[in-house]
Amino acid sequence: MADELDTDIYSVRLARFQLWILLTAGVTAIVGYLFHWSFGMPFLEQPIIIKLVIVIAALIFLYNIAMTMFTNHHTLTRTTATLMGGMVMLSVMFLFGIPFVPNLSTQYYWWWWVIHLWVEGAWELIAASLVAWSLIKLTGVSRKTVEGWVFAEVALVLLTGIIGTGHHYYWIGTPHYWLVWGAIFSAAEPIPIVMMLVDAVRDLLKARTLPIVNTLGLAWLGASAFVHFMGAGVWGFGQTLPQINRWTHGTQITASHGHFAFWGAYGMLAIALMYAILPEISGRKPNGKQALSFAAFMSLNFSMIFMVMALLIAGIVQVYLQRVMGMDFLEVQSHLRIWFEVRLVAGCLFTVGCGLLLWDLFRLAARQPAAAVAGEPVPVPAI
Ligand code: HEM
Ligand code: HEM
Ligand SMILES: [Fe+2]
Repeated sequence: MADELDTDIYSVRLARFQLWILLTAGVTAIVGYLFHWSFGMPFLEQPIIIKLVIVIAALIFLYNIAMTMFTNHHTLTRTTATLMGGMVMLSVMFLFGIPFVPNLSTQYYWWWWVIHLWVEGAWELIAASLVAWSLIKLTGVSRKTVEGWVFAEVALVLLTGIIGTGHHYYWIGTPHYWLVWGAIFSAAEPIPIVMMLVDAVRDLLKARTLPIVNTLGLAWLGASAFVHFMGAGVWGFGQTLPQINRWTHGTQITASHGHFAFWGAYGMLAIALMYAILPEISGRKPNGKQALSFAAFMSLNFSMIFMVMALLIAGIVQVYLQRVMGMDFLEVQSHLRIWFEVRLVAGCLFTVGCGLLLWDLFRLAARQPAAAVAGEPVPVPAI
């Protein structure tokens, strides 16, 4: 945000304070789970007190970025406006996960506002703005090219994403019209995702003629755009129509989609941002130890795809045995065992990848000795 507006962040102290309380809350929550300290809702497991700390952190964050935006009367760019909109929506949606309603269907109804309107609404806006920022930053392609469609994408994400929430209302006792509305609007959700992919590819191709210094950041960004499209667009679309979801709902196919989409849209984007920002802070050349960066990239992506495919196959077998043949849930689980073992292997490889990635990122983050900073980074051709 500060970089986009070419200014300093409003308060570094507030930002640090926010980092610490979020980190403390996060670590406490995870350690707490080990001792069964949990709210009990999938995805919203944190106990109320931790949720309140997260709300406070979100308020501090919104205040800090709003002040950064609005003091000194900077001109708002499309990118910052989208980012701010996404952040506000993200924070407001979180509030719907806090109260507990005794009726499970009603609880699930609100619960989907958090999950669905996050991943298919607010986070998509945040992702669109961060991708735009990184593309401008990393490729040197003009702002006009990159930002051209941003508002159209935002409008489409909101239009399809908000009513598309209906694809989670099919089987929880909501009125029948959700079958139609959920189907039509959620089926249109991949359209803005495809637009984002087209955008990213077009800008990356344009950038081939420009001097690129940070190929790593770009590689992660491009991979993120593609896997976002596959995981969310293709895997999501594949199970969103009620005629199909009737069979696949809540199976390993869902888990396959969840992992694929999260990894592509948000996991890899976060990593791309780290590769984009760290060299700038530390003054290190981003393309130093290519072999290590390449190993991290390959092992993480290979194992993730490996796991996603194992879950997909497990899911298809599960649908067939459980829903078509009518076999008992637990009996089916025993037939899926082999695919869970494959997943375990993929998970171990993923852990190795995480280690390599951390090593590479810490290497990039280590401050460059002053003498070495002087020389300009040597441009290398784009991917
Ligand atoms: C980056 C965007 C997305 C992310 C991160 C994401 C993630 C997830 C996750 C984690 C779940 C599982 C929730 C649970 O535990 O039940 C889920 C469910 C689902 N998603 Fe997505 N999703 C995304 C986009 C999409 C899109 C664009 C579509 C449709 C075109 C879609 C269709 C579905 C459907 C139909 C389900 C419910 C599956 C079931 O009935 O079990 N998703 N998504
Ligand atoms: C290869 C490494 C990974 C392994 C072995 C793994 C394993 C698991 C397991 C055992 C579950 C719970 C049970 C289930 O839904 O089947 C789960 C759920 C989940 N994980 Fe992972 N995970 C991995 C990486 C990731 C990453 C990198 C992300 C996010 C970027 C992620 C996001 C999720 C989500 C959103 C769920 C809930 C899915 C749902 O309810 O459908 N996981 N994962
Ligand atoms: Fe959804």
